Amino acid sequence: MRERPFFTVAAAVVVFAAALTTSLRASAPAATALPPTGSGVSRAVASESNYVGPGSCSAVACHGAIRPAPGSRILQTEYSTWVSQDRHARATEVLANPVSQRMGRILGIGNPQQAQKCLLCHSLDVPAALRGRNFATEGVSCEACHGPATGWLGYHVTNDASHEESVKRGMYDTKDVVKRTDKCLTCHLGTSEKVVDHEMIAAGHPDLVFELEAFSAAMPRHWSEKTDTDAYKPVRTFAVGQLVHLRASLDSLARRVKSPIWPEYAALDCFACHHGLTRAADSWRQAQGYEHRARPGLPQLQVSRYLTARRVLQAWEPPAAPELDAVMAKLQIEASRLSVRSDEVASLATQARAIVDRGINRALTSMATPEMASSMLRGLFADAPAIAERGERAAEQAAMAIEVLSTAIAKSRGQDPAAMQGTFTELFQQFESPSSYDPRKFSAAMKKAESAIPIR
Ligand code: HEC
Ligand code: HEC
Ligand code: HEC
Ligand code: HEC
Repeated sequence: MRERPFFTVAAAVVVFAAALTTSLRASAPAATALPPTGSGVSRAVASESNYVGPGSCSAVACHGAIRPAPGSRILQTEYSTWVSQDRHARATEVLANPVSQRMGRILGIGNPQQAQKCLLCHSLDVPAALRGRNFATEGVSCEACHGPATGWLGYHVTNDASHEESVKRGMYDTKDVVKRTDKCLTCHLGTSEKVVDHEMIAAGHPDLVFELEAFSAAMPRHWSEKTDTDAYKPVRTFAVGQLVHLRASLDSLARRVKSPIWPEYAALDCFACHHGLTRAADSWRQAQGYEHRARPGLPQLQVSRYLTARRVLQAWEPPAAPELDAVMAKLQIEASRLSVRSDEVASLATQARAIVDRGINRALTSMATPEMASSMLRGLFADAPAIAERGERAAEQAAMAIEVLSTAIAKSRGQDPAAMQGTFTELFQQFESPSSYDPRKFSAAMKKAESAIPIR
């Protein structure tokens, strides 16, 4: 994960003041827009599915314990973990920092702490009509992922409460890994309503990069991963996360290519434009040639999610992998044209999506095996030179996948993943200065990693 500033406790006071202003703003009629689709906001009767805010979960006997409750399936430390370690708790606060404030000026949206454009992803942004009495917007809090709580809050603390029944009462089903990934991606990739585009990136917003298991570990997880009955469960979670991420990025492309703003630079390979120049004789780009685009010198589509996920697809649904490759080859050429045929691109993206769907269904209905895990890992190492040439983002996505997979494999064999830490540190050093990323160095680091990571 990238280096980020550390937030002090003193700054939390600012958040509180900011939250007050935002909730005042939100109670104005103008803010009572419909909830964004795909955000998991139930449109059921408002009184049954209001949002209560994280304060209602924070009691020591509920989710605010300091130490995990002995013998309990639920850790009960979830709130403590979120408030003290999880960046989501500070998500509204960052809208007050100098980078955000400058972003607000560049984009002409005023104070980002009051701009819907930002709050959509940086707070528990729900319509005023759905807010309970002690509701607070600040932070990406519990209900941003677990759904509006008034429908299930009382029920879920009863002795024989079941997850299924809580879901019926409006809890979002984060146990379903497809739904879980889609939920993360509403903010970590975006939807038609929640958008991070190149205009925002140029104004200072970080580019959105995601990998389900790597990001869950970084949150960090406030739940325990139960692998006693299935040691390879994290491998399957990884696979589903990869394929759902690819599917969502295809949907995003189909949407963007049809919008008035195309080429949308955030969908292209960033470092096709943002790289330093060398003497012609030293240029790795010229040495590699300009495949995968309509003409030399055009920026190419960013395919970081595809290049890693195709190895996942190959392990789970082998016949689908060459079919996906064929569609993606055409899609990349079509999407690179400056005067794009948007119907053609959208149709190819839809075809690719249907193939990815088959992989998702397969991953959901079969168990991960040690062979699958090592075949994905071996495949990624074999692809390293090809992935390396497709740019920094592609390499970064592959590196995250390698770390997640080899960690999962080590754990399932009862080995200590910490032994591989040095290897990953070296791998991730390749991304510290992305504009001067060098595929030859990345390939070399991958070779080294391959020999350091035990693959059966
Ligand atoms: C589509 C959802 C989305 C929207 C809309 C959005 N953001 Fe973000 N923002 C994110 C995510 C996700 C991250 C974390 C990215 C990462 O680290 O991978 C982030 C990170 C940031 C960061 C870096 C935080 C840090 O700790 O360094 C800043 C600053 C920021 N956003 C400001 C804004 C501002 C200002 C706006 C409105 C103009 C905005 N964001 C709109 C999703 C969004
Ligand atoms: C960014 C999304 C996100 C946020 C914010 C979040 N959670 Fe979670 N939570 C998850 C995911 C994903 C899981 C794992 C899947 C599961 O078990 O439901 C989980 C699991 C849990 C579990 C374990 C459920 C079980 O049956 O094992 C509890 C309890 C929980 N969260 C409570 C909270 C509380 C309380 C908060 C707020 C302080 C919170 N969560 C905030 C995503 C989130
Ligand atoms: C409602 C929007 C939203 C949802 C849903 C969401 N996130 Fe986030 N996430 C954010 C924002 C905004 C930030 C940036 C916060 C900051 O930097 O202060 C962020 C930051 C993070 C970070 C820190 C990134 C870094 O660079 O250090 C991780 C890790 C993360 N999210 C994981 C997840 C996972 C895993 C899920 C799903 C289980 C998820 N998020 C769901 C909005 C969201
Ligand atoms: C088609 C070319 C192109 C692509 C692709 C592209 N950008 Fe840009 N980017 C530009 C141009 C042009 C500017 C504004 C001119 C300038 O750099 O001064 C810019 C500006 C920026 C800036 C602000 C410049 C600075 O020095 O701070 C950032 C950051 C940025 N882009 C990041 C990205 C990221 C991340 C991606 C991929 C998600 C990306 N760009 C994709 C052309 C591109």
